[in-house]
Amino acid sequence: MRHLMSPLDLSVPELEKLLDLASDIEKNPKKYAHTCDDKRLATLFYEPSTRTRLSFEAAMMNLGGKVLGFSSADSSSAAKGETVADTIRVVSCYADICAMRHPKEGAPLVASMVSNIPVINAGDGGHQHPTQTLTDLLTIRSLKGRLDNLTIGLCGDLKYGRTVHSLIEAMSRYKDIQFVLISPEELKIPGFIRYNVFENQGVSYTEVSSLEEAMPKLDVLYMTRIQRERFDDPWEYERLKDSYVLDTEKMKLAKGKMCVLHPLPRVNEISVKVDDDPRAAYFRQALNGKYMRMALILKLLDEAARNPAKEAIDTTGLEYDRVCRNPKCITQTEQELPQLFRCTDKAADIHRCVYCEQRA
Ligand code: CP
Repeated sequence: MRHLMSPLDLSVPELEKLLDLASDIEKNPKKYAHTCDDKRLATLFYEPSTRTRLSFEAAMMNLGGKVLGFSSADSSSAAKGETVADTIRVVSCYADICAMRHPKEGAPLVASMVSNIPVINAGDGGHQHPTQTLTDLLTIRSLKGRLDNLTIGLCGDLKYGRTVHSLIEAMSRYKDIQFVLISPEELKIPGFIRYNVFENQGVSYTEVSSLEEAMPKLDVLYMTRIQRERFDDPWEYERLKDSYVLDTEKMKLAKGKMCVLHPLPRVNEISVKVDDDPRAAYFRQALNGKYMRMALILKLLDEAARNPAKEAIDTTGLEYDRVCRNPKCITQTEQELPQLFRCTDKAADIHRCVYCEQRA
């Protein structure tokens, strides 16, 4: 049985097939209208969502299936102290597949380790958001006609923006990709992405603080919201919240065929006047989320039917004798979980937590 925790769980050929399937679903919706007639999707959302939860639910309904779930931790037995592992064991009795969003990094991975049904990470803290990335890839491919040979600017909160982390990991596997990372000093890309992508794979990138300076080079501009809910210090958020505002003046600096993406919700980092610019693609991107999630549900259910055995994580070389200090890691709130670390650099003695990928 396959789960989806990170975009890297799908090989590039698998990704291409999934994008093709999503495009076919968009063109021929009737063909897929009864493909999940007897199936149920559980949406387990411990954190707010509009697009991800509703597009998952719309996706399953468009496939003929049914949905159940909760939209906040307070309306589930998590409020009484139930663990993620116990929750998914129970949900496995009622549903065929589940999408989980959780504020703690690594929570969907914990679920996948004990689940009898496929688990999809619908966003875990400031870590990963792989289904947003699938949506982003479908949007970029449909607008630019390719996923290689692109200069991609990522602007805003690159530290806590989980969509940025997943998108960088996914795009780094394509040829001739250049990243321009546009952020204030305090919100630069975190260590695990620096390590996984830039140090380990030698992917080309530059870091700048000026959006105006970056604009003329970009084929894709990926704007992000400053993630208020991830800040420990509310004053730090107040200081940084208006770091970047994309407006019609800045759009004049961009290529005629650049496209502007944003995972949404937006606060004020894109002026509403930009919405009328034909290069603004963020609402189209939200629509693509539904087709992409339809394709993903079909793929994971098909694989689960062929191979229903539980998927154990690869424990080769894992170490257990350290403690994760990341306060946003699921191991901080669910203390009975085994601490699991992978050595990522023997010479420098660097170990990363398997759940949140932060350094020990
Ligand atoms: N893009 C995204 O994850 O939006 P929601 O938080 O509304 O699901």
